[in-house]
This record gives sequence, structure tokens and C-alpha cells, in this order.
Amino acid sequence: MAVNEIQQRARAAIEASGNLQELDDLRVQFLGKKGEITALLKTLGAMEPEQRKSFGQAVNATRDALNQAISARRQTLEASALEEKLLSERVDVTLPGRGEQRGGLHPVTKVMERAIGIFNKLGFEVATGPEVEDDHYNFETLNFPPHHPARAMHDTFYFGDGRLLRTHTSPVQIRVMERSEPPFRIIAPGKVYRSDSDQTHTPMFHQVEGLLVGEGVSMADLKGVLHTFVNAFFERSLAMRFRPSYFPFTEPSAEVDISWDKGGGSQPSWLEILGCGMVHPNVLRACDVDPEKYTGYAFGMGVERLAMLRYGVTDLRQFFENDLEFLRQFH
Ligand code: PHE
Repeated sequence: MAVNEIQQRARAAIEASGNLQELDDLRVQFLGKKGEITALLKTLGAMEPEQRKSFGQAVNATRDALNQAISARRQTLEASALEEKLLSERVDVTLPGRGEQRGGLHPVTKVMERAIGIFNKLGFEVATGPEVEDDHYNFETLNFPPHHPARAMHDTFYFGDGRLLRTHTSPVQIRVMERSEPPFRIIAPGKVYRSDSDQTHTPMFHQVEGLLVGEGVSMADLKGVLHTFVNAFFERSLAMRFRPSYFPFTEPSAEVDISWDKGGGSQPSWLEILGCGMVHPNVLRACDVDPEKYTGYAFGMGVERLAMLRYGVTDLRQFFENDLEFLRQFH
């Protein structure tokens, strides 16, 4: 009988359907307005009453059975679709975490903070000034007369409107002395700029400036403070010497050498680490400080140079390449 054949075929197809769309297509194919079961019901009108009754019952029973089969299959398909979704969205709380990358301070920052810390203990307070300066603060008041050859040594970056990038931290000395009265005891850490680039020079580098002005300050005080600093900074007892030098803003001036052991059994040799001297009377006068009453000393050192010695770095430019493998060594 056609009804049984349709029922068997429909059930097999429903069982085999793999997703909800396929299942709905089957519902339309068998039970929809133009479906196979619906078509059978349409033939009832032309039948004898007896036949119509039994055939009608059979078709109706088949329709109900198929409806049931479809909804049962739908439930199964929906459940497995949900299962699949849950599986794909599952968070495995037992997996190890991704971990965290810890940052660290840049070696130049660490050395600068180390130097500041030592000078703080010696009573020096931090002072700052602008990186964009003018001729007045960078040169003029520091006793560089116009056309003085020492200006040429500074490889200055000029803006062309009278402003320039400071070539040293010494202008901070002037700014501090201009705005208050002696005694002064400051250090000025910061960035400085010179148009220069090779293994030991970068266009931007850092200096720490020191200035102490008061009554009866002598060069012996300067040497004592610097030797204390050098020993504290390198954590050992180092021989240190003053070598005569020249800066327009100090008189007398000296370059400071330390006795440095490069290791490998070689003899220690003298290594220049900073410049210093007694503040020139012209500089004091330019800041309205009476050179008959007050004397003082100043010093300036390159932070990268200290960092190279402390960490054994041989190329200054490495500090500014931001190679993480290099930088991680200082954490
Ligand atoms: N300003 C000098 C330089 O940059 C360093 C220095 C500072 C020397 C203070 C003496 C006193 O070379």
C-alpha cells in the first residue's frame, strides 16, 4: 500500500537527516501543502465511504506518526547542535596561564637614579631646566664670549631663531643661581644634545651636573665629594686624579680620571670620567652672586659613560637601539 511505502521512506529519511535544515525540507516534502501525504488526503473525496474511512484513518495515522518522528529527530539534532557549541566554547580552566612579561628600567635610567641617590645622601638636591635653551643660558652667562672657540666644540643644534638644544646641563647652574640666594647645593640630571654620532657619541645623551656654592668652598672639597661619589658608584676603592683642563665657566678646571682595571690581567690605566672646576667669578657675577664672598665648584658627567663602565658595554649606541634582548640583561 502506498501509505506504508511512504511512511517507511519518510522515516528512513528523517532518521538519516543530519541537520535542522534537512529535517525541515523533509517535513515540507511529506507533510507540506504540496507534500506526498497531503496529496493522498486529496484523493479521499473520490472514494467510496467505506474505503474513505479506512484509508483516511491510515493516512492520518501516518501523518501523526511522521509529525512525531520529525519532532523527535528535531530534539536530537538540537541537542547535538547545542553540545557542539558548548564544546567549541569550552574554557579549559586547567590549562597553564599565559604568564606575564615584566618590564624593567632602562640601564641609563638606572645609572642616573643611582647617581642621584648617592648625591642626595651627600646633601645635593635635584634641579631641572629646559632642554630647549638659548645662547644666553647655554653659552653667554657660562662665560663663553661670542666667537669663543669653545663654542665650536659643542656641535650645537640650532633652531635658527636664537633657540638651541642645550649641549650640556650647565645652564641649570645659571637658572638655579638666578632665582635664589647662596648657598647652592644641587645636581641637575637630564638630556643634552650634540650633533655627533659614533661608537662613543650619540646626538642625545644624559649628563648629571653638580653645583655647590657657599662661603669658603675649596677645590679640596670638590675632590673629596667626587672621590666619595666614584667609590660609592663603583662599589670599590678607586684611585682618582685631577688633570688640568679647560672650561670657560670654571677656573681652575680639571678632568677627573679614575684608575680602571679592564680585567684580563692587564695593568689598570687612567680613564677620564668627568669634568669639573671652581665656578668662574664671571659666572657668579652674571647671576648676581658676589665672588668676593662666595666660591663654589661645579662638575658634569656623562651618564651613558658611567653606564658603559658599570655594565661593560662597549658601544654607546646599544643603549638607544631598544633591542629587548640587550635591555633584558639589566633587569
Ligand atoms: N659642561 C661640561 C661639558 O659638558 C662639563 C662640566 C660641568 C665641566 C661643570 C665643568 C663643570 O663638557
